[in-house]
Amino acid sequence: MFEVSPLLAIGVGAVAVGLTAAVLIVWRDLGPMARLSAPQRVALVVALAGGVLAFGLKLTVIETLTHASRDRLAPTLTEIEPAAEADGGIETGRPVWEALPSEAPAPAGNPTTPAKVALGRALFFDPALSRDGTLTCASCHDLERAGGADGRPTARGIDGRIGPRNTPTVYDAAFQARLFWDGRARSLEEQALGPIVNPIEMGADLTVVVERLKARADQVAGFAAAFGPEAPIDARRIAEALAAFERTLITADAPFDRFVRGEPSALTAQQIRGMSLFETVGCIVCHAGPGFSRASLLAPEKGSSAFRLFPSLSSDYTEKYRLTEDLGAAGGGRAGLWRVPSLRNVALTGPWFHNGSVDDLSEAVRIMATVQAGRVVTDGKVETRVAWSPETRRLTRRTPRPLAEAEVADIVAFLKALTSDRLAIEAARSARAEGM
Ligand code: HEC
Ligand code: HEC
Repeated sequence: MFEVSPLLAIGVGAVAVGLTAAVLIVWRDLGPMARLSAPQRVALVVALAGGVLAFGLKLTVIETLTHASRDRLAPTLTEIEPAAEADGGIETGRPVWEALPSEAPAPAGNPTTPAKVALGRALFFDPALSRDGTLTCASCHDLERAGGADGRPTARGIDGRIGPRNTPTVYDAAFQARLFWDGRARSLEEQALGPIVNPIEMGADLTVVVERLKARADQVAGFAAAFGPEAPIDARRIAEALAAFERTLITADAPFDRFVRGEPSALTAQQIRGMSLFETVGCIVCHAGPGFSRASLLAPEKGSSAFRLFPSLSSDYTEKYRLTEDLGAAGGGRAGLWRVPSLRNVALTGPWFHNGSVDDLSEAVRIMATVQAGRVVTDGKVETRVAWSPETRRLTRRTPRPLAEAEVADIVAFLKALTSDRLAIEAARSARAEGM
């Protein structure tokens, strides 16, 4: 894309103004004063214009040189490991790694204000949002432990009812263009009322919840501060306040973020190897951009192609972890259709996958490498597969591309670098407290 840099714009502007001034001065002042003939005036203008153009040329040269040096600084990452010869993985071009922004964008209709955030926080922790006052949003989305999730395979809702899906984290959800495992909600506002009325989550009735909040002085004051004293408490405003609060749950403080912002020691050598494998094995094709998800507003294509078949290749894992019992957004068929989830804080949010069936992150990576990236995870020999086609009377031979267990460990190490420093400390503190 062509970008007009400020310096270049000033240069072109200065040349235009200078030339106009030269013509005017020569014609209206100098010319008549010195009684110059028309050809003499033209000659004088040309002489002056030469000076002005030389000045413009200088600016352009300076600008081009600074641009070139900026481009030279950019590929420092590839210098850490000599430019990766794509090892047969999916060709991705050279992705640029970026840190997570520290603020999430808010929709025009629901600007983030401190009063709204405070109200949203109060609602997030308010048991009045559940049918029998036993659950809050934080019961399942623990903001201190479990990285904004609940550490359970699948959610446990009202009356202890176990739901069908794993609880994803609310951290950085503000960057997702699609929410829920199957991507059925398009905004936090749209998502927020779902769990309140879901019969196996909070199981409440929205009109009852609104009446309860109207009877509470603290909540009435909170709504008045957030939306104005005239605005009634209603479901839409509950959703807006919850969404505004969730937009503040951003974790831009992972070692990965520090690394790409210019702190080379933030990642270990193993994590940098894992980062490179993440690219060459093709994880980055789906888990793209600083949100590590194609469904992210930050992904190169801004949340388009947010869905993927999972499992997209057949393997023994499908049966072992019941990966196709729930088909997500797919109407039917062999594999489910799922939103590509973010991998931020993924080391804290296990067990993994939509059904929480895998409780070991290395196993989750093996599964992904096998069924999504077409690799064979092995430490031994890789057997060539030969297929015979009776129609064409040809043999086709395929040697699966192996991924060593040590490389799986490298990728896992990299995924751990996506954990927020603050959440890692909280998680360690609560693990110690539980151990006591
Ligand atoms: C009983 C546990 C439970 C409670 C209580 C709960 N949630 Fe959830 N939450 C879940 C589960 C499970 C999902 C995933 C459901 C799915 O994908 O079908 C989810 C998904 C989400 C998501 C989407 C995250 C993403 O990346 O897609 C957000 C945001 C969220 N919940 C916010 C809230 C808010 C706000 C509340 C309180 C009003 C709340 N949750 C209450 C279990 C819960
Ligand atoms: C073709 C797209 C695609 C590729 C390639 C891909 N993933 Fe995924 N990934 C997904 C989808 C879709 C899911 C959600 C699966 C589900 O619904 O359970 C997922 C889920 C995950 C999860 C579990 C997240 C959670 O919160 O439970 C991890 C971890 C993961 N991927 C890591 C990787 C790694 C590492 C690679 C490279 C080896 C990779 N992925 C390659 C699409 C992909």
